[in-house]
Parts: sequence; C-alpha cells; structure tokens
Amino acid sequence: MNINRLKEIITKLAEDGEKAQSAPAIPRIDSTSHLTTERKLAWAQLLSSAASAEESEEMVVLPVLKAFEYSDILHRYLKTHMEDESRHRDLLKEYVKNNFSYEKKKKTLTDIIIYKGIFRGVNVISEKRPLPIIVAILFYEWFAEEFYAELMNRAGEDKLINLKNLFIQIEKDELRHRAGIKALLGIWKSEGKKIDKIDIFYTKILLGVTRLDVNTASWAFYNKRLRRNLTNLGLDTEKIYRNSKAYADKAIAELEVQAGLN
Ligand SMILES: [Fe+2]
Ligand SMILES: [Fe+2]
Repeated sequence: MNINRLKEIITKLAEDGEKAQSAPAIPRIDSTSHLTTERKLAWAQLLSSAASAEESEEMVVLPVLKAFEYSDILHRYLKTHMEDESRHRDLLKEYVKNNFSYEKKKKTLTDIIIYKGIFRGVNVISEKRPLPIIVAILFYEWFAEEFYAELMNRAGEDKLINLKNLFIQIEKDELRHRAGIKALLGIWKSEGKKIDKIDIFYTKILLGVTRLDVNTASWAFYNKRLRRNLTNLGLDTEKIYRNSKAYADKAIAELEVQAGLN
C-alpha cells in the first residue's frame, strides 16, 4: 500500500478516535443480585485484571508517542490510541467498583515484575527503537480481541447487559487500534526507516515476557487466580494459552515481513 493511502487511513482512524472520546456514556451499572458470590468475585477480579492490562497498554504507548514526535499525523493517532486505553481502564474499574464493591489493592507479582520493571526498561530503548513495543502492542490487541469477545458472551449469559455494551464499545476502539498499529508499521517501512535483526531480537524477548503475563497454562503458578476466575466463568484457559502463542508468532511474522526477512 502506498504511503499516502496509509497516511489517509491513519488520519481517519485518529478522527474516529477523537469522536469516540465524546461518545455518550454507557451506564456502568447492572443488576447482579441473581449471581452467586463466587461468580461475582470471578467477574470482579477478572475485570480488574483487564483494567490492569489496559493500564499497561496505555503505559507502553507513551514512549512510542515520543518516538513519533517528528510526525504530526502519527502523533495525533497515537494520542487517541493512548486516550482510548486510559478510558477503557477507567470504565472497567468503575464498573467493578459500582457493581461488585471490589477494588484491587494489592499489586500482584506479575504487576510488579512486568509493568514496573521490564516495561520501564523497554521504555528507554523505545524512544529510539519503537518497533519491538509496537509489535507487542499489536499482540495485546489481538489477544484482547478474543478475550473480550469471550467475556462479552459470558456477560450476555449472566444478563449483565451494560457490561456487554461496555465490551462492545471497547471492541470498537480495539478494532481501530489494530488497524492503526498496522498502518503505523507500514508507514515506518515506507519512510525508509530501519527495521533490522536487533528489532526482531528485542521483539522476541518482549513478546516472551508479554506472553508470560497472559499465561493461563496450568504451569503458570503466578496466574493461578486468573486461571481460576476464567474457569469459573467457563473459559478454556488452555485454549487461551495456545492462542497467545499463535498471536505471538503472527506478530513476529508481521515484523519479519516488514523487515524483508521473510
Ligand atoms: Fe484497550
Ligand atoms: Fe487497544
């Protein structure tokens, strides 16, 4: 695709993102009295984990934003992307607070290691070399798509109508993000910017860490609670784990194609 077309696409996505900021709010309240205590807790903790993931996405877009300061168009798009993630985090947190009177206080082990440690280190590299983190964002977007789709179904089954609507709204934004990140990669390549083996190397490390974070396989001891909550809601944790591997491979393949290595 030629660069002008990619720029048109990303500008349109930025405009849509700006409009989404002022979309009418969905009521963040549902009737939950028909749910068991166990079910309510599973929802509360899962939605809190989702809010943390949204927060980390917002956090990783920030250094990328700095790397693209040279381009008004890309900067404008990334700003809407970051604002979306921050809105998602607030919506989910508020929903949990309103409906389940639950607030996550303690940081989990993965929160501390992944979000505070590794991503912070990556931020330093990203201002000069943004591709690994962009690909990690792409991975998150793919992973989130499926995850939210499953949760959307469960919300429907549990008659949490507004939660379902909330997911529909979030999914719309995530769809825009996937298109935006892909266009961004295309523009980077078309502008003749560097994509090399070091980028691929960092990307593999970063995706390895990201996958650990969302690892729902039975051996991932640190995500035991996440796994229990997913199982309680009837989700297949081994399938989620298998898909995360497939998405990571797909994200790396995407970068290798851009780098002309594949
Ligand atoms: Fe999001
Ligand atoms: Fe997103």
